[in-house]
Amino acid sequence: MKKFAVIGSPISHSLSPQIHSLFAEQAQIEISYEAIEIIESDFNSKVNQLFEDGYSGLNVTLPLKEIAFHYADKKSEEALLAESVNTLFLKDSSVCGETTDGQGLLLDLQSKEIELKGSNVVILGAGGSARAVIPSLLSSNLNSLYIANRTSKKAVDIVNIHKQNNPEINQIEMDESINFEIDLVVNSTSAGTLGEELVLPEGIFGTKTKSYDLSYSEEITPFNLIAKKRGIKETYDGLGMLIHQAALSFETWNKFKPSTKDIEQKIRPL
Ligand code: ATR
Repeated sequence: MKKFAVIGSPISHSLSPQIHSLFAEQAQIEISYEAIEIIESDFNSKVNQLFEDGYSGLNVTLPLKEIAFHYADKKSEEALLAESVNTLFLKDSSVCGETTDGQGLLLDLQSKEIELKGSNVVILGAGGSARAVIPSLLSSNLNSLYIANRTSKKAVDIVNIHKQNNPEINQIEMDESINFEIDLVVNSTSAGTLGEELVLPEGIFGTKTKSYDLSYSEEITPFNLIAKKRGIKETYDGLGMLIHQAALSFETWNKFKPSTKDIEQKIRPL
């Protein structure tokens, strides 16, 4: 039986074991999939040990995606652009690192019939989660992608990485005013999780704006609550993205493309 795990910290509430076991049922294969707590300082020794112990693949979550990027011997093109890895596996005795977060987000947006082509998108935050999804967003023929971050320099750094190939990317200040319609606001900040206040650009929520929070929770996320209070009707959290990124990892490891239909209803915490 093949062994897999998701690693991160904290990890005990991860829904990945449940998602992967539903996929394994569909594929009619037996796998084991655990959630294993690993902190940053133990990453190399613990991950070396897991591969020595015969694990076939590892999903990597916060706060380890950047260390996983540096750990991997071979990186996919998207992982190189994102400087983030959420999927590790061995191939020909090399550790391969991929990121399925960005494609997971695109697939979830697609399943919710959110059109990206020609749209104006704002992403709030410029940390690891933002970096992981920006290359995919930039592959979607957006009209514009604005990065707004409390620490402007981090947003400027990301813009500089992509500007040459993607002139539609720009930085805006968190306290700047936006005077055109934004189609989609993606929240990648950890303000909500930390229970902190989030200052938003004025005019960010228009009449047609949709909101997508990369994080998810049992109740509506703090960011989506702000959006709702500002009159936004369509708000989504990152559970769908979690499922789609898991499906892509599962496919890489097991050569089976699982259906993601109805998984969200099955696993959404009550
Ligand atoms: P992650 O891997 O989840 O992206 P991270 O790399 O620590 O975590 O990034 C957290 C992001 O949330 C950053 O963009 C951070 O802004 P700074 O770069 O200014 O630190 C943002 N963030 C966290 N708390 C915030 C708050 N209260 N208001 C605004 N942005 C916040």
